[in-house]
Amino acid sequence: MQIKLGRNDKCWCKSGRKYKQCHQSFDEKIARIAAEGHQVPAREMIKNADQIAGIRQSAKINIAVLDYVAEHIHPGMQTEEIDQMVYSLTTQMGGMPAPLHYDGYPKSVCTSVNDQVCHGIPSKDVILKEGDIVNVDASTILNGYFSDSSRMFCIGEVSPEKKKLVEVAKECVYRGLEAVKPWGFLGDMGQAVHDHAFANGYTVVREIGGHGVGLEFHEDPWVSYNSRRGEEMLMVPGMIFTIEPMVNMGRAEIYVDEENDWTVYTEDRKPSAQWEIMVLVTEDGAEILSY
Ligand code: MF3
Ligand code: CO
Repeated sequence: MQIKLGRNDKCWCKSGRKYKQCHQSFDEKIARIAAEGHQVPAREMIKNADQIAGIRQSAKINIAVLDYVAEHIHPGMQTEEIDQMVYSLTTQMGGMPAPLHYDGYPKSVCTSVNDQVCHGIPSKDVILKEGDIVNVDASTILNGYFSDSSRMFCIGEVSPEKKKLVEVAKECVYRGLEAVKPWGFLGDMGQAVHDHAFANGYTVVREIGGHGVGLEFHEDPWVSYNSRRGEEMLMVPGMIFTIEPMVNMGRAEIYVDEENDWTVYTEDRKPSAQWEIMVLVTEDGAEILSY
């Protein structure tokens, strides 16, 4: 239920300004676009300045954690050691790793190697070796605010095929980012992502997407990277979501590990790569909050 705001009431965004001087024309614009048949964001998906400031602080930790991993990752290392680094640094900086105990997840970070698409669980038994490609996906909670991003790392010398996959997967994210603008649609971004992947002979995982983030780990909307320009949800200033396509060298099909019920693999066992950034839609474009 939502009580209709009067023009002189205080705006719902808690700016302290009158509705007519704040979000009234914004709301009317969204309502017109909804009436044309488009999906539009709910108010909960639009963050105010205080919330954005809190999310930004959380993201600072997330970036620092991945910078630290980048400096210390090396061949011969157990993925368990990455988990320990992420836990120690995040907590030293006053945050908590969001994955820990999330839905029963046992560790502080995801480490997905080669044909692991995502949700690889750090372990003493997984030792990074020369030629591996690994995604390290970190997420932080600070004062109730969430951040989420991931990067790929090449361990020592990797094959040219894998190197190209890693590079193109990153380019896909930044092609997507260029398509993020207020009053555009999430499908503009999704199309930019998969066009670039397909142009390079790759596929994009369909079943797992990105998400809104900030006040929760995973918020609406669910974000597809196989979507079409002009489709999916309207983007408006104050929305925060992730761009995190999983790009496969071979076919797009995946399966979930039956033993741990978490780790996702490519069905054809060919490598997969993923980079994740967390993006704020601004008045004139987009800003990366975490990478
Ligand atoms: N960090 C992942 C994402 O990008 C989610 C991991 S869920 C976990 O959305 F429980 F495995 F951590
Ligand atoms: Co994410």
